[in-house]
Amino acid sequence: MTFKRTTVTTALPYANGPVHIGHLAGVYVPADIYVRYLRLKGDDVIFIGGSDEHGVPITIKARNEGVTPQDIVDRYHYLIKKSFEDFGIWFDIYSRTTSQIHRETASDFFRTLYEKGGFIEKTSEQYYDEEVKQFLADRYITGTCPHCKNEHAYGDQCEACGTSLSPTDLINPKSALSGSTPVRRETKHWYLPLDNYEAFLRQWILEGHKEWKSNVYGQCKSWLDMGLQPRAVSRDLDWGIPVPVEGAEGKVLYVWFDAPIGYISNTKELLPDSWEIWWKDKDTRIIHFIGKDNIVFHCIVFPAMLKAHGGYQLPDNVPANEFLNLEGDKISTSRNWAVWLHEYLEDFPGKQDVLRYVLTANAPETKDNDFTWKDFQARNNNELVAILGNFVHRAMVLTHKYFDGKVPPCGELTDYDNRTVDEFIDIKKDLEKNLDQFRFRDALKDAMSLARIGNKYLADTEPWKSAKTDMPRVATILNLSMQIVANLGIAFEPFLPFSAAKIRDFVGLDSCIWADLGKITILTKGQMLKTPELLFEKIEDETVHAQVQKLLDTKKANELKEMKAAPQKPDVSFEDFVKLDVRVGTVSECVKVPQTDKLLQLTINDGINKRTIVSGIAQHFTPESLIGKQVCFIANLEPRKLKGIESQGMILSAETPDGKLVLIHPGEKVPDGSAVK
Ligand code: MF3
Ligand code: ZN
Repeated sequence: MTFKRTTVTTALPYANGPVHIGHLAGVYVPADIYVRYLRLKGDDVIFIGGSDEHGVPITIKARNEGVTPQDIVDRYHYLIKKSFEDFGIWFDIYSRTTSQIHRETASDFFRTLYEKGGFIEKTSEQYYDEEVKQFLADRYITGTCPHCKNEHAYGDQCEACGTSLSPTDLINPKSALSGSTPVRRETKHWYLPLDNYEAFLRQWILEGHKEWKSNVYGQCKSWLDMGLQPRAVSRDLDWGIPVPVEGAEGKVLYVWFDAPIGYISNTKELLPDSWEIWWKDKDTRIIHFIGKDNIVFHCIVFPAMLKAHGGYQLPDNVPANEFLNLEGDKISTSRNWAVWLHEYLEDFPGKQDVLRYVLTANAPETKDNDFTWKDFQARNNNELVAILGNFVHRAMVLTHKYFDGKVPPCGELTDYDNRTVDEFIDIKKDLEKNLDQFRFRDALKDAMSLARIGNKYLADTEPWKSAKTDMPRVATILNLSMQIVANLGIAFEPFLPFSAAKIRDFVGLDSCIWADLGKITILTKGQMLKTPELLFEKIEDETVHAQVQKLLDTKKANELKEMKAAPQKPDVSFEDFVKLDVRVGTVSECVKVPQTDKLLQLTINDGINKRTIVSGIAQHFTPESLIGKQVCFIANLEPRKLKGIESQGMILSAETPDGKLVLIHPGEKVPDGSAVK
C-alpha cells in the first residue's frame, strides 16, 4: 500500500473533567509515539486533536455547579490542552467543538446529508418535563429500576445492578430537573439509516480490513452481525449545534454526530487552504486513535456519515485500545479514582517520560490492563534507571575519564563489535515493524533492547581493563559506545521525547533522523560531550506509598459519601433514655442455633449471672471467633423466644458500607456488667 501523507486523529476528550492516565495510555501516548515516528521518517503527517464540548454530561455538570456549560468547557479545555503539551503530546492543532468553524462545518455536513435525503424523519414519544418545558435526556430521568428496585436508577442505566435501561423502563419516573413526573410527548428527530450501509460496511471492514487489530475487528463484526438500526442524530437539548433545518427549533445535533466532524473542522482551522487533501485525496491515509468505547462510532457510524456525504476518504486503520484500570479498579472521573495528569506533574515534576514509559510498557493494547504504583516504581528503577540511564551515564563517564569528554577515534572493529552492530540493526528492523503495526509495547521493548545491547557491550569489552595496555582499543570501544548512546537519542524520541532530547544534547546531536538509526558514524571524532547527568533517578518506597495512600483516602471518602446515614428517629426524653440498660459482658460460650442460617446462641457473662442472647449474626461471625470477646448489649430488653430459646437481651453492632457487621466493643477491657452511658 502506498500513500503520500497521513492524517492522525485522537479521540476528542469530553471537556467535563481533566485528563488522566487512562486517556494517555489508551489514546494519546500511542498516537504521539506513532506521529513522532512518522515525523522522524520524514513522512508528511498532521496530528489532530481537540476537545469534545457538547453532550448531556457537560450540561449536568454545569447545572450542578450553577454555571453555564460554556464555563465548564472553558475551564477544562485549557486544562486538558496544557496537560497534553506538558506530556509532549504535540498536536499540530488542539481546538474545540465550540469553535465557529466547527459549528459551520458540522452544520453544513448535516445539511448536505439532509438535502441528499440521507436521513429518515421519525416522530416518537419522549419524556417531557412540563414544569421546565423541556424534553428530558435519558440521564435527566430517574426512577425505580425494574430489575433490582433501586430507586435511584437513571433513564439510561441502573448503576446499582448495571442494567442498561431506556427511560420508559423506569417505574415512577421523575425529572431530575424539577422533580415532577414527566409526561410522554411526541417529538421529531432525524435518523441515519445505518441499516442501509450494512452491506457496504461488512464488505469494507470484514473483507477489506482484516489487518485491523483483533479487538477492533471483533467488535465491528459483532455489531454487524447483530444488524444495524437507524440511529437518531438529533436531540432535544439547548446545548449543542442547532439542527440547521426548518422546524427544528430547540433541537441540536447529537454529540456523536458533531464530534467526529471536529477532526475535519480542526484540520480546516489548521490548514484553511489545503485541508481537503488531508481528508479527500486518495493518497491520504487516515488513522483514528481511540479507546474501545468509541469503536462503533469510528468504524461504523462516522464512516457511514462520510460515505453518505461523499467525497471523503474512510479511515485506513482504527487502532483502538482497551481500558487501563488503576490498582485493580475501573478508572472513574466521578469517583475521583484516577491519576490526574496535572496532579502527577505536581508530585513528579519533570518525570513525564517515566509515566509515558510505564503507560506504554503496560498499555492495554489487546486487553484491559492495570496500572499500579508498585509497577511504576519497579519499571522506573529496574528499567529506566538500571538499563537506559545506567548505560548512557557509564558511557559518558568513561569517555570523560579516558578522553576528556571528546568522542575518541574509532579503530578497527573486532568480530564482537561487528556482531553487536548487526544485532542492533536487526532490532531496529523489528522496532520498525512493531511501530508500523501499532504494537507500541513491543516496540518499546525493542528500544530497551537497544539500550541493553549497549550495557552488555560495555560489560563484555571492559574498557577499564584495556586502559592499562591498549588505549586504541579503549578508543574504539568508547567510540562505539557513544555511537550507541547517540542512536538511543533517536530510537527513544517517539517514546521518551524529553529524555531522548537530553541524550542528544549530551552528545551534541542536533539532528534527529530515523534513517540515522543503526549507523555508527553519527558522532564525529573529537566532538565534545557535555558533563554527564543522570537521566532518571530511583523512586523510593515512601514516594509510591504516598501515592497509594492518596488512593486509599479517595476510596475511604467515596465509601463515606455513599453511605447514606438513615434519617434520625424522633427525639426521646432523657427519662426515656435512662430507662435503657446497656452493659458490657463477655461471651463465654457461643454455638449456632441448629437448623437456622442466621442465629447464634451466645452465653454472656454479665457480671452477675450468665445470660443467653440469641442474635442474627451467624453469617458474619463464627462462634469460635466470639468466645472470650467483650460486647455491649441491651440488658433490659423484654425477653423473647427465638426458635424456642429465650433471648435475654440484644447485642449491639454496626454495619460497614458493604453490609458486613461489626460488633461494638469497649475500647479497653472493663469489668463485666459495666454500664454503657
Ligand atoms: N468525547 C468522546 C469520548 O471521550 C470521544 C469523541 S471522539 C470524536 O468518548 F470522534 F467524536 F471526536
Ligand atoms: Zn437495577
